[in-house]
Amino acid sequence: MSSYGRQTTSLVLYFNFHFFLSFFCYLPVPVVFSALSSNQKTAMIDLSKSLNASAAGAVSWDVNKEPNPCSWKGVGCNSSTNSSVIRISLSGHSISSSEFLPLVCRIESLQVLDVSRNRLTTIPPGFISACGKLGELKLLNFSVNNLVGRLPAFVGFSALEALDFARNNLSGNIDSELDGLVKLRSLNLTFNNFSGPVPTLLGKSKVLEELELSMNMFDGPIPDEIVGYPNLTLVDLSGNQLTGIIPARIGELSKLEVLILSANKLSGGIPQSISNITSLWRFAANSNDFNEKIPGGITKHLKNLDLSYNKLSGSIPSDLLSARNLQTLDLSNNRLEGPVPEVLSPSLVRLRLGSNLLAGKIPSAAIATHENLTYLEMENNKLIGSIPPEVGGCRKLALLNLAQNRLSGALPANLGSLSSLEVLRLQSNHLSGGIPIQITQLPKLSVLNISRNSLNGSIPPSVSQMQSLVNMNLQGNKLSGSIPVGIASMNSLMELQLGQNQLSGDIPRMPANLQIALNLSSNLFQGHIPETLSRLSGLEILDLSNNNFSGKIPDFLTTLGALTQLSLSNNELSGEIPKFPLWVMVDTHGNKGLINRTTINTPPQLEKKKKSYAVTIVLALVAAVVAFGAITIVAVSISRQNYRVNDEQVQTEEELAVPAVVQGNLLTANGIHRSNIDFTKAMEVVSDQSNLVLKTRFSTYYKAIMPSGASYFVKKLNWSDKIFQLGSHDRFARDLKVFGKLSNSNVMNPLAYVLTADSAYLFYEFAPKGTLFDALRGISGDDMDWGSRYSIAVGVAQGLSFLHGCTPSPILLLDLSSKSILLKSLKEPLIAEAELLKVIDPSKSTGSLSTIAGSVGYIPPGMQFCDFFTLQ
Ligand SMILES: *[C@@H]1O[C@H](CO)[C@@H](O)[C@H](O)[C@H]1NC(C)=O
Ligand SMILES: *[C@@H]1O[C@H](CO)[C@@H](O)[C@H](O)[C@H]1NC(C)=O
Ligand SMILES: *[C@@H]1O[C@H](CO)[C@@H](O)[C@H](O)[C@H]1NC(C)=O
Ligand SMILES: *[C@@H]1O[C@H](CO)[C@@H](O)[C@H](O)[C@H]1NC(C)=O
Ligand SMILES: *[C@@H]1O[C@H](CO)[C@@H](O)[C@H](O)[C@H]1NC(C)=O
Ligand SMILES: *[C@@H]1O[C@H](CO)[C@@H](O)[C@H](O)[C@H]1NC(C)=O
Repeated sequence: MSSYGRQTTSLVLYFNFHFFLSFFCYLPVPVVFSALSSNQKTAMIDLSKSLNASAAGAVSWDVNKEPNPCSWKGVGCNSSTNSSVIRISLSGHSISSSEFLPLVCRIESLQVLDVSRNRLTTIPPGFISACGKLGELKLLNFSVNNLVGRLPAFVGFSALEALDFARNNLSGNIDSELDGLVKLRSLNLTFNNFSGPVPTLLGKSKVLEELELSMNMFDGPIPDEIVGYPNLTLVDLSGNQLTGIIPARIGELSKLEVLILSANKLSGGIPQSISNITSLWRFAANSNDFNEKIPGGITKHLKNLDLSYNKLSGSIPSDLLSARNLQTLDLSNNRLEGPVPEVLSPSLVRLRLGSNLLAGKIPSAAIATHENLTYLEMENNKLIGSIPPEVGGCRKLALLNLAQNRLSGALPANLGSLSSLEVLRLQSNHLSGGIPIQITQLPKLSVLNISRNSLNGSIPPSVSQMQSLVNMNLQGNKLSGSIPVGIASMNSLMELQLGQNQLSGDIPRMPANLQIALNLSSNLFQGHIPETLSRLSGLEILDLSNNNFSGKIPDFLTTLGALTQLSLSNNELSGEIPKFPLWVMVDTHGNKGLINRTTINTPPQLEKKKKSYAVTIVLALVAAVVAFGAITIVAVSISRQNYRVNDEQVQTEEELAVPAVVQGNLLTANGIHRSNIDFTKAMEVVSDQSNLVLKTRFSTYYKAIMPSGASYFVKKLNWSDKIFQLGSHDRFARDLKVFGKLSNSNVMNPLAYVLTADSAYLFYEFAPKGTLFDALRGISGDDMDWGSRYSIAVGVAQGLSFLHGCTPSPILLLDLSSKSILLKSLKEPLIAEAELLKVIDPSKSTGSLSTIAGSVGYIPPGMQFCDFFTLQ
């Protein structure tokens, strides 16, 4: 009540008895009170009734509880007098009926109408005709609804500046529907099904600044007419089916800051004229069919340039990498040839030149002492010469990938100065000489792949210091000597590939966490298969083939619970082959002394008839055993899963360092999230366990407060240790992008992701009300009334039906329970724990798929009709 008293200026138009009382009891000075005109008040009350009637209590507006509509949630009145309503936000109320919309138009003073994040399917014609007359309406937000059909033709709306229809199901061509919007500055039609040519009639007065049309089905060329909008700062046409060339006149858009043309079918060249745009800082034209040479000078003003996944040819212009402001440059997956330019910009953070035809040496001057360079990728080219020692000067380098080239010479000891290095990939080159011990002193290294080279000498005993190393791949070299005893203390190691070398001697104790594979094949090992291997209870692949192992196959190998593949072929083993569980693929060929028990027990010849019975019985038995085996796998998997979760807990509690970002990307097209989300800050947050808010079987959620003050969930995938395919960041990222495109207001969609060397973090909107589980038990302190329960049930059902709809990529719902439903409000449920199945790599570890399939409460039935098993 006392807040009313602060209003001191205008007329008393409204008061009630309570106000009257408090007015006299508590306030010393007489106050004149103003409120809405009776017209507006009536309009607001009618609106509230309509909403309450159609939205089943979704909106809490109630004139009996709160007589002043200006105090209703989501309503904004003009701040000086509160005499008129200027803003109505009904975002996120699960409203599905559009009936209320024309009523809104009775509020002549309305400036902002936000009905985003509901379930509206239509815009009634009455809305357009009535609201078109509003002389103040500046912003209309219909984003994240289920609108279908064509875009309505906007008549009137003389003040409209921003129109947001993102994430609906609108379709059809766009012709002159928007041309009457003379003040239109921002248009967002992303994530719809619009088709036909790119619209060019976007407000007769041509004041448009932001044009976002990505993720539709627009086709045809980029129209020249776009140049007629001189104020454009942002143009995003990505994810359509545009063909033809980029018009050279695009350079006339002198205020352009961001130009995104990715994922279309554009061809030809990149116009030189974009270098005329001094304000342009981001240009992305990746994933098209551009096939000409890259013109010089185009990076003159740019910070970010992405031309990857095209067919660009010719050599890289000498000035392309040296532009002062350039921070990230991606030219990977093209047909670029010639040398890598000599001079790199000092601002460069990420340089990706992989999968081209680049030749010549890696210019040492180019990479010497680059303070900011964090990701350097030149893999799969034709580079020759040695790795320049100067690379050691790039102190921030986290990822160095020079794999699949023709590099020769020794591994420079200077690599040891790269104290931030997490991933080193130099496989498939012609490197020779020994492994310098300096490499073993890299404190953060988690992936070391120097396989398929000609490295000789022995494995330095100091490898035992590499406490962060997860994958060590030394296969296909000329390494000799024995495996250092200290290897047992490499506690993070999960994959050890030592095949195809000349290693010999005793096999020491192996690191207990080995899980992905232990491969000692094609070496000179001899003697018995060591007893110490029995500790490797998490190991899935053991390859001891092509050595000189002798003696019996030890029984303990049959009890390694996680083992799925065992190769013992081409050794000197003898004795009986023990009986392995059915799901273990055992290869024992090429061991002369081995006796196969199954062969001995072959029953004597049977009569034809009897035989067929026998076959039937055997088949039945086999089926039973297989079924039993499958159940056992599931059971084992579940127990392992639980074990792993506990394991993870311990690990994360110890782990205090801030994980370094290998790749971070925004998936959301929403400018607010895009500016709020700060990857560096998020990584600080996840390294502090006090920010942990929720732990589910598959994920850990952290609450991250961004520098802007906005909160987000950052979800760490708990399976990172295993299912998340280590080292395949690009594919993972690609799949996440697909996932990010899916949109349903009841399913948590990732807004952004960060990949570190060994984990994946997804960003989601924050759900302040916690889990449904807690809410139902009153733990979060909220009362769940019937209306809330109803809305939640409906919301979850809609989210599930969306997931069942066999969305573009198959989705696996990992765990559906009240603990995996988060509440944005007491009426807005969000299904968490839905993940792209593709993101999980079943090929890396056979056990994983069954782990998931076995332990989930729920897999959408639609999955069976999608490509459940054909995913790779
Ligand atoms: C207008 O109404 C709002 C909501 O009741 C209130 O918070 C605000 O103080 C009022 N402003 C004025 C100037 O009275
Ligand atoms: C429209 O609403 C959505 C969702 O609430 C929001 O993210 C977006 O920024 C809004 N658009 C505009 C132009 O304000
Ligand atoms: C290492 O390189 C080999 C090729 O020699 C490749 O098959 C393997 O996937 C790579 N492993 C990692 C972890 O990068
Ligand atoms: C390793 O190979 C180099 C030639 O590449 C040779 O000079 C050196 O002696 C070899 N070292 C060992 C230990 O075999
Ligand atoms: C073990 O490594 C060798 C090469 O070193 C490779 O050919 C083989 O496929 C690997 N074994 C398994 C089971 O992956
Ligand atoms: C043993 O022999 C049977 C029948 O010939 C064959 O199916 C099985 O694969 C063999 N087992 C091993 C371990 O070689």
